[in-house]
Amino acid sequence: MFVATQPYKGTRDFYPEEMSVRRQIFAKFQEVARQFAFQEYDGPLLEPLDLYAAKSGEELVNQQLYSFEDRGGRKVAIRPEMTPTLARMVAAKVGELSFPLRWFSIPNLYRYERPQKGRLREHWQFNVDILGGETRLADIEILSFIAELFEQFKCKDKVKIRLNHRAWVNFYLTEVLGLTPEKAQRFSKILDAKEKMSAEDFEKALLELELNPEGRKLFDEYLSLTLQEMFKKYPESPISELVQILERLEDKNLFEYDPVIMRGLDYYTGIVFEGFDRSLSNRRALFGGGRYDNLIGLFGKTQVSGIGFGLGDVVLMDFLAENALLPTAKASCDFYVTLSDEKFFGEAQRICKILRSQSFSVSMSLKVSAFKAQLKSADRSGARFAILFGEEEWKEKKIILRDLKTSSQKLLTTEEIQKISFEEK
Ligand code: HAM
Repeated sequence: MFVATQPYKGTRDFYPEEMSVRRQIFAKFQEVARQFAFQEYDGPLLEPLDLYAAKSGEELVNQQLYSFEDRGGRKVAIRPEMTPTLARMVAAKVGELSFPLRWFSIPNLYRYERPQKGRLREHWQFNVDILGGETRLADIEILSFIAELFEQFKCKDKVKIRLNHRAWVNFYLTEVLGLTPEKAQRFSKILDAKEKMSAEDFEKALLELELNPEGRKLFDEYLSLTLQEMFKKYPESPISELVQILERLEDKNLFEYDPVIMRGLDYYTGIVFEGFDRSLSNRRALFGGGRYDNLIGLFGKTQVSGIGFGLGDVVLMDFLAENALLPTAKASCDFYVTLSDEKFFGEAQRICKILRSQSFSVSMSLKVSAFKAQLKSADRSGARFAILFGEEEWKEKKIILRDLKTSSQKLLTTEEIQKISFEEK
């Protein structure tokens, strides 16, 4: 019996071409993060199970966590998200760090989900967070960061960010509808699931909450009134914060109040948001995030407020591919140095060294063969240029430099190799 070659269900192999695409996307993440002076951090793949039990939300902990007992009897989980690790790291050094922090990371995460379009069991997630600072200003900074990120991916006009506010929802459910905290909690879960339910199932779920006709009318208003209408009715409520944030954002068209956005994770306390493809061919959220003001305090240290988001690579790649914006895999090297006779191996290595010292990426043949076969291998290597030489050239201490795109070639002396330059260096 042979062992299967396919990867574990819901995970991906990244062959060099796919890896090249992934690297280019991550390089863009890193570049925009650098422009906004975010610093990179990382943490372990394994965390104590307790870290998620406190605040990550029922679905993630009870249905999606990969967990096991280690040989020492400790309960361990593979990280399903990065925010708890970030909170733990910040809490551990809260006295030494100078706030506000601007931190980012691109961790791989595991969730036991049914693999489907946009959702896998392993994904990479660009996490960008601000810890500390004036809450409203930090909220605006994170949302502006997202706008800039999509501008640099050249698709800002194809994205919509839907926002809501946890304290506002809470206010509406408890103060306006008069629900008990338990009922309000159940209600917010129903709201969160609304988009995935049929209209009948939603109605059925609402019945359980036993709203009176007045309550039902107020609930319908919750779903239908605009942000401004709501603000007019409840100017002293937390919705005023959402209004102020939206007023101060540059890209007004990018953002939209949506009373149904709840987010599944329990730790959010302020604004919550999700980003979607406007074309609706990708129904899955591209990214999601929000404000969490009580997470770091859970570690028994000073409370620090936080705001951030996570953007998954799976949905982003689908989205970029559908908009013909996915980077193409880059050629693997600049030069390919051929070998016509084993006695030239040392010389070939020396030429490689000269080129590498100029920062070029250089591959060399590890097999002696005739000119034609060498050219074929050079082509297959994905190199931009080939360097060829045999007895005849070497007598004059020269090599042939062949442009593999145009097939033009010229003779160069070994001194000239030291001065080679081309636009793709
Ligand atoms: P989340 O909404 O669970 O938030 O995940 C954020 C994004 O990660 C999703 O919008 C999606 O793009 C991607 N994602 C999540 N699960 C999967 C999956 N199974 N397969 C592929 N992509 C997936 C969080 O995780 C929060 N910790 C984000 C955050 C950071 N909030 C504040 N700071």
